[in-house]
Amino acid sequence: MHLHLREGAMMERVTPLTAEHFAGAIIMPNLVPPVDNLARLQTYRDEINAAKGAHVFDPLMMLFFRNYTKAELLAAREHIFGIKLYPAGATTNSEAGVKELDAVEDTFALMEELGIPLMIHGETHGFVMDREKEFLASYAHLAEKFPKLKITMEHITTRDAVELLDQYENLHATVTLHHLIITLDDVAGGLLNPHLFCKPIAKRPEDREALLAAALQAHPKLMFGSDSAPHPISKKECCGCAAGLFTAPVCLPTLVELFEQHDALHNLQAFVSGNAQRIHNFTPPAKTVKLEKRGMLVPERYGDVVPYRAGETIPWAVTSIS
Ligand code: DOR
Ligand code: ZN
Repeated sequence: MHLHLREGAMMERVTPLTAEHFAGAIIMPNLVPPVDNLARLQTYRDEINAAKGAHVFDPLMMLFFRNYTKAELLAAREHIFGIKLYPAGATTNSEAGVKELDAVEDTFALMEELGIPLMIHGETHGFVMDREKEFLASYAHLAEKFPKLKITMEHITTRDAVELLDQYENLHATVTLHHLIITLDDVAGGLLNPHLFCKPIAKRPEDREALLAAALQAHPKLMFGSDSAPHPISKKECCGCAAGLFTAPVCLPTLVELFEQHDALHNLQAFVSGNAQRIHNFTPPAKTVKLEKRGMLVPERYGDVVPYRAGETIPWAVTSIS
């Protein structure tokens, strides 16, 4: 429920890797320039559909949040899954994002009226470890002021965010694969690992434990959203490393490994797919993915992109798809 496919050659390389294993994904709109009008969104969707090859896969398209008129939203409504709000400058390609939440409340009200979900990258510009925690008051404010607006807290990384989920009926969340596994120690506790650098930054062990516990029990308001965010190696292994992990090819095998380790495989379907279908009331194309315990050797590179777990052997592999 949270995926970056990029454009051009990168899109052509990474799209089949998700389209193979998943029946659909929410496609993030933080391109340059952003996907903030219907014509661009439709062109982008067509490009993704061309890049996915023969795989059965529904790109669930998102508009980049700005102040929209009612006429724009009415025209867009049937073509979009939701609208993604980035605070200006919070992450990759978010310069065109929102500077003041108060200044865009008219658009929130229209989205609430028209039943358009709002997805938010919830970070302030404060100290890097506190940015999500500091944003939680804004989530609470929006959830209260717009009770019929369906809000997703994207890629939550803290125990506090998990706790907030239960406070407001209209508040949901996604969590990535990597935030269930890594902490800041893995990023910067030893030799710096640029391939684990992302936004929001991985947090403390107790945060990871809270996220993992919620995922393993398939908390009904939590959805899997990989936030797989490929960057070329030249943008990762350099001074000024871009934020993002490329996890798409290893998501399902790693999730199966993780849920098996914790005797929670019975909750995996709900976490990966069922919760999102219920929360957003949609049905993706039918697809059955079979994994077997026969080992997946993760390539060192997919073209010029280094995947999460490069060079490792994951016990589980996808062996058939129908
Ligand atoms: O690590 C991240 N990478 N976090 C985001 O919010 C954006 C993403 C990207 O687009 O590279
Ligand atoms: Zn993202």
